[in-house]
Amino acid sequence: MSFGYDQIWNNLPFPALVVDRNQCVIHGNATAEQFVQTSQKQMMGKPLARFFGGNSVVIDTLQQAQVQKSSIAQYGVNLATSRRASLMCDLHVNFLDLESGEMLLVIQPTGVAQKMNESITHSSAARSVTAMASMLAHEIRNPLAGISGAAQLLAMDANDGDVELAEMIGQEAKRIGTLVDRFEHFSDDRPAVRNAFNIHDILDRAVRAASAGFGESIRFKKEYDPSLPDASGDSDQMLQVFQNLLKNAAEAVDPDRGVIRLRTSYQSGVKFAVSGAKRETLPLQIQIQDNGKGIPANIKDEIFEPFVSSKSNGTGLGLSLVSKIVTNHGGLVECHNLEQGTAFTLRLPIWKSNNTERT
Ligand SMILES: Nc1ncnc2c1ncn2[C@@H]1O[C@H](COP(=O)(O)OP(=O)(O)OP(=O)(O)O)[C@@H](O)[C@H]1O
Ligand SMILES: [Mg+2]
Repeated sequence: MSFGYDQIWNNLPFPALVVDRNQCVIHGNATAEQFVQTSQKQMMGKPLARFFGGNSVVIDTLQQAQVQKSSIAQYGVNLATSRRASLMCDLHVNFLDLESGEMLLVIQPTGVAQKMNESITHSSAARSVTAMASMLAHEIRNPLAGISGAAQLLAMDANDGDVELAEMIGQEAKRIGTLVDRFEHFSDDRPAVRNAFNIHDILDRAVRAASAGFGESIRFKKEYDPSLPDASGDSDQMLQVFQNLLKNAAEAVDPDRGVIRLRTSYQSGVKFAVSGAKRETLPLQIQIQDNGKGIPANIKDEIFEPFVSSKSNGTGLGLSLVSKIVTNHGGLVECHNLEQGTAFTLRLPIWKSNNTERT
């Protein structure tokens, strides 16, 4: 086998750039080309500030290295380029040659690993709410039935004004009942059954239910990869995941112009550390994208936590449930705002035939 350094350089999975003492680009690998969305040829000789902005932490780090005349690393910095939104990264600057001042800059995106951690934290927060939710559901249901029954009896021989009040009691009791149902769903802690299921069947079921109810006026666009292999998990729980995501999307869009895209694809070779040292391949990627108003900036970092909601009648349990189920499946869910709307991306493991154990 023969290969040159060029080949290694261009196959590095991280953006890497060599810059001169004026911070102008001498080399950029193929990954850097994608990262700054500029061709290698176009990058040559251009100041790095053109791609990252003069105030960027990249420029700062290079300057610090130049002043200290030594290698420097920065962890967990938010990096934006002129053409893409910010991304959590680690930066490494190494001197290649102290005399000429040439430096190697390696950018290591850490966002996905970080999201994975967050997702696990959210799911444990969800678990601690679960016990309370199940207790509440149990304790509220009986007295609630009593209240509704008593209100109906009162309404039977009350005068007109009082009938209205009795009906109001009935309606409000019903509202609490719906909330209790939601809690009960949330506290359903039965273990996820691992079976093979077709993602597209479950997505179709979720779309059918949505079209018949809350998503009546919305256009659903399916962009499925027909060769997608089966997923591994509990299809009923996964249906709940998609129903929650579709409901949120439907609630975020303008009812007359609402479009929800469902996209599936196979991403090979992507491994994630799921619990401790265990690494799992999560090649099934499902994206649910809407053209709605986007996630409010003030709750963007917390939406997977229980009880976080921007809606007057929202419980804030929908995405917490999504996170709990997806994490129990060894998967990953993340979201990002688009220019117009929001995209939720799920990554799930595929079914392997020796995978019959319960989790
Ligand atoms: N597709 C989306 N577009 C814009 N904002 C969203 C979207 N999905 C979720 N959000 C935001 O995240 C918050 C939390 O969502 P979550 O589903 O957990 O609770 P909820 O929808 O408010 O209440 P519930 O699901 O109990 O009805 C929402 O209130 C909303 O602000
Ligand atoms: Mg919701």
